Amino acid sequence: MKNKTSPSLLAADFLHLADEVKKAELSGADMLHCDVMDGVYVPNISFGFDIISKINKITELPLDVHMMTCCPEKYLDVLKNSGADIVTVHSDYTDKEAVIETLKGIAERGMKPAVSLKPKCPAEDAFDFVPYVDMILVMTVEPGFGGQKFMADMLPKIKTLREYLDKNKPECEIEVDGGIGKDTVGLVAEAGANVFVVGTASFRADDMKEALTDMLAIADMKRE
Ligand code: DX5
Ligand code: ZN
Repeated sequence: MKNKTSPSLLAADFLHLADEVKKAELSGADMLHCDVMDGVYVPNISFGFDIISKINKITELPLDVHMMTCCPEKYLDVLKNSGADIVTVHSDYTDKEAVIETLKGIAERGMKPAVSLKPKCPAEDAFDFVPYVDMILVMTVEPGFGGQKFMADMLPKIKTLREYLDKNKPECEIEVDGGIGKDTVGLVAEAGANVFVVGTASFRADDMKEALTDMLAIADMKRE
């Protein structure tokens, strides 16, 4: 399974967002990670659909939208119209049946559905969603803020999920988000992740292209 990077715009310079999007493109990013936070589901507020829509107008990169909000099902049409390609919702934002309906709604609109597990949610919480998703996002920090320390105790969860997916849906990808950089990408790749959200370690690196290239080389050595 191809290893990919998804630089998180949360770490970009918002005063020069267009330049930052171009920088990610020129650095070889496979997609762009857009963190939408509402200050309720997580204790922080980021940016919304107007910004995503403007970003979509200046790049061909797929937009990987991570919904850290209550009621993400309310925003599926606006997400589609804003140019979202992948939409991730959290496994615990409501009851399981309603999460499944939201995942189906994402797919019906031609976007890729993904489900995310917070650190406290075990791998098994994702199993019932597997038929409805193209990707599972394992949070490797508590969602809400960039620049936090990677939680190594999430590694067994990634491994359990990869083993389950290999048996039940091998094409389903595993994305990781939080504290990913040169020191940690090898660990998550070895455990079975292949899509790497990188905030601080990409946009804030001295040389973003070198940072992403080095990270992919490390991941490729561990698992391809
Ligand atoms: C945190 C966000 C992340 C964040 C990652 O809640 O979901 O996408 O931007 O930032 P780093 O890579 O700095 O941990
Ligand atoms: Zn994120």
